[in-house]
Amino acid sequence: MSGQFPAENIGHGQPGHAPRPGEPAQPSAFAFDGESESLITGILAKYPEGKQASAVIPLLYVVQKQLGRETGSAWVPRVAMDVVAARLGMPPIRVYEVATFYLMFNTKPVGRYHLQVCTTTPCWLRGSDEVTRACREATGIRHWGETSEDGLFTMTEVECLGACANAPILQVNDDYYEDLDAGRTVELIQALRRGEPPAPGPTIDRFGSMPQGGRTTLLDVPDGEGPPPAHPATVEA
Ligand code: FES
Repeated sequence: MSGQFPAENIGHGQPGHAPRPGEPAQPSAFAFDGESESLITGILAKYPEGKQASAVIPLLYVVQKQLGRETGSAWVPRVAMDVVAARLGMPPIRVYEVATFYLMFNTKPVGRYHLQVCTTTPCWLRGSDEVTRACREATGIRHWGETSEDGLFTMTEVECLGACANAPILQVNDDYYEDLDAGRTVELIQALRRGEPPAPGPTIDRFGSMPQGGRTTLLDVPDGEGPPPAHPATVEA
């Protein structure tokens, strides 16, 4: 059944076989380690008997995290998809479908730091071109999807990351770095190269997504007068 699926979409060829030009080498085996096994026990406990296939996304995520710990490259090789399918009692093709549909799963090896640049309209309006250019210059990467020569960085273009209030956003592995400009992007990449990832979140002086430069609405609400009166419909008779 799995032979019907286009191999180029799932990291290519059979495990252990020589890769075709441009394809990554596939590991010949995969097994969950102790840390992953304890995570899986907790994940499977959330699903009723017979519904374990619903855990396919969290288990693929466990695979990706384990590969990141073991090799510095967080990705999901095909042999691991087969292990997930066997664990959940589902046909491998259904796991391939999920792993190749969701962009958060890397079906090819990536660098230690996966730079995911949001270029959707709000981030574009707020400077994602600048962030992209800074990433390229600081890593030497020329094209989307490439990995830097030192193997540390992979650059991917992504759609809206759901954090537009703090645009432009650069996601690094699982963390969001927000309100970036070219200078702060270069500083971030230099810190990552030193192995000193800064705290994620806004890179300018604001908390969360509070208005940049201060409030512009609700300025006439007097301080110290307590909460506004309850709406009449909520007052008991
Ligand atoms: S457009 Fe970039 S986070 Fe929404």
